[in-house]
Amino acid sequence: MPATITALSHYLPPNVVPNSYFSRYLDTNDEWIQSRTGIKERRIAQSGANSDLIIPAALKAIENRGIDKQEIDCVIVSTVTPDHMFPSTAAIVQHKLGIKKAWGFDISAACSGFLFALTTACKLVEGGAAKRVLLCGSDKMSSIMNFNDRGHAILFGDGAGVCIIEKSDDDSGIQDQILNIDGVGGKHLIQVSGGSFQPSSKETVEGVGHYIHQEGQPVFKAAVKGMADVSKEIMDKNNLSSDDIAWLVPHQANKRIIDATGKRMGLSEDKVMVNIDKYGNTTAGTIPICLSEWHLDGRLKKGDKIVLSSFGAGFTWGAILMEWSI
Ligand code: UT7
Repeated sequence: MPATITALSHYLPPNVVPNSYFSRYLDTNDEWIQSRTGIKERRIAQSGANSDLIIPAALKAIENRGIDKQEIDCVIVSTVTPDHMFPSTAAIVQHKLGIKKAWGFDISAACSGFLFALTTACKLVEGGAAKRVLLCGSDKMSSIMNFNDRGHAILFGDGAGVCIIEKSDDDSGIQDQILNIDGVGGKHLIQVSGGSFQPSSKETVEGVGHYIHQEGQPVFKAAVKGMADVSKEIMDKNNLSSDDIAWLVPHQANKRIIDATGKRMGLSEDKVMVNIDKYGNTTAGTIPICLSEWHLDGRLKKGDKIVLSSFGAGFTWGAILMEWSI
């Protein structure tokens, strides 16, 4: 049997930051932000670390599954904003939850992190190295945003989505994936300082190297092509037409990228999950937060064929085909 998502939940910090927050001190405005990105507001955590976003979502996902937390035997966190460079945020989550016997690790693939981590978790379950994975896609982007850089400060937000991955009871679950990485795009979207390339120092802290550096246009162009191409590729590979797809679950980086992907797949707008207006880009959080919201309010139904699709720093990009199991 394939592996699948058997329960999930999400958490967004309560502090809502509307576009007007930025137009008070930056040369930007609500009209520009909404028309160029689709974002109206985002959530920004006022305290705590990334793991503090994950824990409430994890507790709820475990409760939704109706299992004891001790039945989790692997914890995977996908993030670019770990609590620390090391130990892994997975270790912190395991410890905070009080899970006694598990292994785990972090995965860093930026905005494609959830897709890469979901594939990894499913292969571990299908191969028998784990029985029940707690899979967390979460980022506290406010910890690396330069609030004085209008080029990216308006784009990002904080949030977490957590899924439980197990073997499916039937044929539903993960069906196919196409995943890509190409470091040619590295320079366009990068946090330069704080790693072994340029360790933290007085100079790096006084500069901007610890913040996100993003060149919007080259990333935008590559994202439109990468996400649309790979989403169409997975449809063609599996002989699927737009009528076969119930939902596109796109990474929420820019509404224009999402629209281009949906159009390329031949999908009407009512088959495309969009919540970028409320949360901005929460990096590894966007796709599991969408899945959780649409599942909890009943719009995502058992048996639905869905395509998850993403593009992000690296460059990394990909698509996953799933049949929804719950
Ligand atoms: O999830 C990870 C991957 N990240 C992405 O996918 C992000 C991809 N990039 C984008 O979403 C878009 O490139 C942005 C939203 C970041 C920018 O939109 P754009 O349509 O590509 O704008 P642009 O960079 O071409 O800039 C157009 C103009 C420039 O002014 P001039 O040179 O024409 O006078 C910018 O300086 O818009 C200006 N601008 C802004 N104006 C008001 C850039 N940011 C802002 C802003 N408010 N926040």
